[in-house]
Amino acid sequence: TQYSFQQHFDDKIDSDNTIEAKDWMPDDYRKTLIRQISQHAHSEIVGMLPEGNWISRAPTLRRKAVLMAKVQDEAGHGLYLYSAAETLGISRDEMYNQLHTGKAKYSSIFNYPTLTWADMGAVGWLVDGAAIMNQVPLCRTSYGPYARAMVRVCKEESFHQRQGFEIMLTLAKGTDIQRKMAQDAFNRWWWPSLMMFGPPDAESPNTANSVRWRIKRLTNDELRQKFVDVTVEQAKVLGLDMPDKDLKWNEERGHYDFGAINWPEFYNVVKGNGPCNKQRLEARRSAWEKGQWVRDAATAYAGKRAARKAA
Ligand code: 3HC
Repeated sequence: TQYSFQQHFDDKIDSDNTIEAKDWMPDDYRKTLIRQISQHAHSEIVGMLPEGNWISRAPTLRRKAVLMAKVQDEAGHGLYLYSAAETLGISRDEMYNQLHTGKAKYSSIFNYPTLTWADMGAVGWLVDGAAIMNQVPLCRTSYGPYARAMVRVCKEESFHQRQGFEIMLTLAKGTDIQRKMAQDAFNRWWWPSLMMFGPPDAESPNTANSVRWRIKRLTNDELRQKFVDVTVEQAKVLGLDMPDKDLKWNEERGHYDFGAINWPEFYNVVKGNGPCNKQRLEARRSAWEKGQWVRDAATAYAGKRAARKAA
């Protein structure tokens, strides 16, 4: 009966078991997972654009090869996550349609422009750093296919973060102009990176349910705080100034206190009015249209192969 299904589900969640695709689950649990996983996948795919912009402008062949590998990884992350979302009953085409029509969200961070090569360092260091902070707990999220997708993603994400930090270190220890580039990129990417973790817990409509269903192991504010504490130490190694004059170590909290985040800017970007929102969606829509012939060819080829097999 409905009651025993619900009870069985609750027992599984409470005893920290994973829910698998074939298990009974409450509609709201399924809905919020489709929402989060599909938007996570969209973030990976749209996230390729800001960095893709610098592949042909990389300063050396090595930097170019590493950046290409990173951007390619993001495509793979998108693939794992779209596949994980499909196990919940939404089709790939439906998800793309939600992205292309602006119905679905993707991470606000990718609506900012990448203006200099130093941005490749700041994005790898801060954005992938923040993504790791958020994705490591997701390796233990209650939905099995999502948790397993995260294990592989996190391994690759740490390479992304390290290559970004290494770019920042090279610049920060380089000429004056290079140091200024690194500081400028840090100044521009610091606050939007804090916004990646989502609104404050008190303004987060999904956190209560996500924590109850063990989708979220740590809240937005807890992850943001962890990210600040770790990244301030890394900025010291780089010898860069923190772009937050209110940042101060708080002994009794055992954490850094930091300045107020510009939440109106966050909601404005999420609503579609960030510096690059239109350009990012346009790029995805045109890639989709221009890629129609590839999808048709792959479908035709698969059809021929199936027919040969059947013959
Ligand atoms: N950008 C855009 N929208 C955001 C956002 C952000 N940074 N943070 C929150 N939102 C949206 C939420 O999606 C939600 O809207 P919705 O209900 O229409 O989906 C609304 O703001 C309220 O936020 P909540 O905190 O209530 O929502 P969640 O509980 O879903 O928490 C989240 C938001 C922490 C982003 C969570 O969804 C999550 O952990 N998602 C998976 C991680 C993810 O998407 N990461 C993207 C980072 S980029 C990346 O991974 C690529 C890497 O390779 C660089």
